Amino acid sequence: MPLVHTRELITPGGAVCAFNVITVEHAEAIAAGAEAAGRPAVLQISENAVKFHGGQPGPIAAATAAVAAASSARLSLHLDHVEDETLLRRAHAHGFTSVMFDASKLPYGDNVKATAEAVRWGHERDIWVEAELGRVGGKAGDAHTPGVRTDPAEAAAYVADTGVDALAVAVGSTHAMTDRTAALDHALIAELREMVPVPLVLHGSSGVPDAELRRAVAAGMTKINVGTALNKAFTGAVRAFLEAHPSTTDPRKYLAPARAAMTETVAGFLRTVAGGNSG
Ligand code: G3H
Ligand code: ZN
Repeated sequence: MPLVHTRELITPGGAVCAFNVITVEHAEAIAAGAEAAGRPAVLQISENAVKFHGGQPGPIAAATAAVAAASSARLSLHLDHVEDETLLRRAHAHGFTSVMFDASKLPYGDNVKATAEAVRWGHERDIWVEAELGRVGGKAGDAHTPGVRTDPAEAAAYVADTGVDALAVAVGSTHAMTDRTAALDHALIAELREMVPVPLVLHGSSGVPDAELRRAVAAGMTKINVGTALNKAFTGAVRAFLEAHPSTTDPRKYLAPARAAMTETVAGFLRTVAGGNSG
C-alpha cells in the first residue's frame, strides 16, 4: 500500500517501531517483518545512510518507498538524525513525512533556536518533527552517552520552546549496542510521560532487553528506534554463509539469508513492542 504519514502510526496508548534502512534489503526485511507480525512500522533513513549513498537521499528513499508500496503493511518514511539543514530541506521532496532534527550537540540555546526553525519549516510542509535534547540535566555528552539522562523539567521547557511533535529522551539506552543489556530508568520514563506533552522516543533500542522494552512501552514510550540489531543479524548471516561457502561470488547467495535474518529480527521487535502496548 502507499506510504502512510508517520503521524498516523503514532497513536495514544501504543507504540510503533522505527527501523533503520541502509540497503534495499533492509527495507525489504522491514516490510516482510511488519507483514509477518501484522504490525505497522516506520522505515527510517539516517543522514549517515544518505552520506553512505553519496549524499543523495533520492535513490535509497525512492527504493524504500517502492518496497513499501508493494507491501501490505502500513509503513511510513522518516529521515533520521539530520544535522545538515540542507538535507533537512530536501526531506519533503523525497517523500519523508517525518524527520528527526538532531541539534543535540549544540548548547541548549542554540539547539532550541535551530530546532524551532526546523519545526516551523517542517510544519509548513506537513512534516512531523522529532528532536533530541542533548547535554541534558547539566551533564556533558550526547543524550545517549551512558549515564546521561533527560531532565523532565528541561524537557518540558524544550518542547514548549521549540514546538516539536516528539522528543527523543535519554533514559538509559545507548546507540549501537550489540548485546541487549541496557537497563532503563522506568521511574524517569514515568516522570517524563507525566511532564512532556508529546510522544517520547527511545533511541538505541537494539541494546534493550525485551522485558525492558515492554515496560517502557507500557509506561508511555511511543516510538522505538532500532538499527544495530538489524545490522547484527545481517552481518552475522553473511559471515556464517561465507564461512560455510568461501568460494561464493554471487551476492544474492549471502544477501538472501542476511535479509531473512533481518526479517526475523524485525518481526521479533514488533511482537515485543505489541506486547507492551496498552492501546
Ligand atoms: O535512530 C536510530 C536508533 O536510535 C538506532 O539505535 O542502532 O542502537 O538500535 P540502535
Ligand atoms: Zn538514534
